[in-house]
Amino acid sequence: MKKSLISTASLDLETVKHLMALATERLDEGYATSLRGHTCATLFFEPSTRTRLSFELAAQHMEMNVLNFNVKTSSLTKGESFEDTLDTLMAMEVEAVILRHKEDGLHERLLGYVGDELSIINAGSGVTDHPTQALLDALTLYHLVDDDMDRLCNLTIGIVGDLRHSRVASAHIALAKIMGWNLVLIAPDELQTFHDPTEHSNINTSDSLKETLPQLDVVMALRLQKERLGEGESCEKAQALVESLQITEALMNSYAQPECKVMHPGPINWGVELGHCLSGRHNPRTLMQQQVRNGVAIRMAALEWCLNNPEVVEEDVNPAL
Ligand code: CP
Repeated sequence: MKKSLISTASLDLETVKHLMALATERLDEGYATSLRGHTCATLFFEPSTRTRLSFELAAQHMEMNVLNFNVKTSSLTKGESFEDTLDTLMAMEVEAVILRHKEDGLHERLLGYVGDELSIINAGSGVTDHPTQALLDALTLYHLVDDDMDRLCNLTIGIVGDLRHSRVASAHIALAKIMGWNLVLIAPDELQTFHDPTEHSNINTSDSLKETLPQLDVVMALRLQKERLGEGESCEKAQALVESLQITEALMNSYAQPECKVMHPGPINWGVELGHCLSGRHNPRTLMQQQVRNGVAIRMAALEWCLNNPEVVEEDVNPAL
């Protein structure tokens, strides 16, 4: 029986803690070859660098077979359905499919089709979810507070930029409800989230970055999701709005607490949502390198959790037993 990871909201606090503990173990103790011989496939219908490569690396660290499904040269282009594609992969004993697609609801539909015979892991869906991004961000925050769960759940996190078209923002709204930390969604009306977070006392909105920055432990910037702008939405206007919320080193030094960190899920448009002064992989203000590093570990944890194969884990982690 296999588990799927389709939505952030479907997780509970215990599962998030379990996934963070598994990922931390992988980072601290090295990469156990716990899924040797199992097979997964990456199906990316949208561009990706971090998510795709970190899933592939995570699977390789665990000695899985990894199939990189090339959408453009696949038989989907000849009219084959998603369902037949999954049947074909299952006939080849693929056990997990890591899927990114622009269509909201596709992952749920396919989960309904495969049930527990195949793990479907959401690597980004429409504007609604990106669970492993939210989890790797949670892991990054957990390490920021020295693995102290109470401190983690008491953080105040701001997300600023294009919240309306961002699956990362949606995933973080769901995660904040689970973790209970304070989340402030900072954007003008045009870019504000389409969710209604007001029913949750720990989630608030603001249209002023300067007024919000002093209360934040972490501020996460989001790029303009140009590829998801709707008809009638002006790209130039939206771009100007994101630029007006740009996080710069000077802004951080003037308004943020000295320890306040900057995060970004990537890809970054330097000079738009983040100032060039914050670039550089050793910049002490930023956590982007840690986010990417933690992405590999959290995706190892996600694969292990979904494929749920304790016999193999035990045998490979403890070869002497
Ligand atoms: N954060 C994120 O999903 O990055 P990629 O699009 O590069 O995978």
